[in-house]
Amino acid sequence: MKPTPAASTARAKAEAGTADAQERNRIWWETLPMTYEDWDAPERKVEIEGNFEKYLEEFRICSPFITNFPYGKLAGKSVLEIGCGSGGASYLLAKGGAKVQAVDLTAAAVKNATSVTKFYGLDVNVQQMDAEKLEFPDSTFDFVFSWGVLHHSQDTQAAFRQVSRVLKPGGQGMIMVYNRHSLRYWQIAFQALLLRGKIFHGETAKSVQRFYTDGYYHRHFSPRELAECLAREGLHVDKTTVTYMKEQMLYKWPKAVDDYFKDKIGWLLVAEFTKGGGPAAV
Ligand SMILES: C[S@@+](CC[C@H](N)C(=O)[O-])C[C@H]1O[C@@H](n2cnc3c(N)ncnc32)[C@H](O)[C@@H]1O
Repeated sequence: MKPTPAASTARAKAEAGTADAQERNRIWWETLPMTYEDWDAPERKVEIEGNFEKYLEEFRICSPFITNFPYGKLAGKSVLEIGCGSGGASYLLAKGGAKVQAVDLTAAAVKNATSVTKFYGLDVNVQQMDAEKLEFPDSTFDFVFSWGVLHHSQDTQAAFRQVSRVLKPGGQGMIMVYNRHSLRYWQIAFQALLLRGKIFHGETAKSVQRFYTDGYYHRHFSPRELAECLAREGLHVDKTTVTYMKEQMLYKWPKAVDDYFKDKIGWLLVAEFTKGGGPAAV
C-alpha cells in the first residue's frame, strides 16, 4: 500500500490556513472533494460536471453495502444524508422515492451534489452545513444516512448527538465509519511502523493512518465502541456490518483471498440503529 501525497498536501494546506479544528477539516475536503477519482492522479478533477454517469457508477459499486442497500425501502420517508460528497447516495435515495435533504461541510460537495441531482431531475435539497451544528428542528427526519463522514468530523460524538436530535422518535439510521479491527488498519500500522521505521520517530498505529487515509481527521472504531458512542446519544444499534471498498488490499494475492479477508475484517464498519422512545419508523 502506498502513502497518499495528495492527502499530505491537503493536510499542510489546512494547517497553514487556520488553527480552527473544524475549519481544517473543511479546507481538507474543499481541496480534495470526494469524486471517486484517484486522490493522486495528476489530472484529478474536483468537479463531476459532464462525468455524472461515470461518477454514479463508481459510487454504486464502491462497496457491496452501497450496491445492496434497499433504497426503495425508504420511499416516501424524509431522509437526511449527512456528508453527501458528490451526491451518489442522495441520487440513489431520491431515485428510490425518498424525500431527501442532503448536507455537506463544503461548498465543493454542495456544487457537485446539486448538479448531479438536478441533471437527473431529482428533487434533492442540498445545503452547506456542519454535521455538528445541524440547522434542522428536533425530530425532523425518519432516517439519517451517512456514509464515510462522521469519523472525519472534529468531534464525532457531537455529530452523533445531532443525528439523534434531528431523528423522530423511533426513527432509524445507517452510518459508516472506519473499522479499527480491520486488515487495512493493521496492514498500514505494520508497514509504516516496522517496514518504514516510523516507530522510531514517535509514531503510533493510530497516527500513521494519516499517510494513507483520507480526511484531516479519520477516527477508527471497534464495533463495540461505535455501539457505545451511539447508545450515549439514545441511538440503539440493531445491526453492525463489516464491509469494504472494492480496491484490493492484499497486493499480489488472489482476489478471492483478498475478498475473503476484507469480508471478515474489512475497513468499513456500518451501524444500523433506531432512536429509542417509540415504534420503529421504517
Ligand atoms: C469520504 S467523503 C464521503 C462522501 C460521500 N458520503 C461518499 O461516500 O461519496 C466525506 C465527506 O464528508 C464531508 N464532511 C466531513 N466532515 C463533515 C461535517 N462535520 N459535516 C458535514 N459534512 C462533513 C466532507 O466534506 C466530504 O464530502
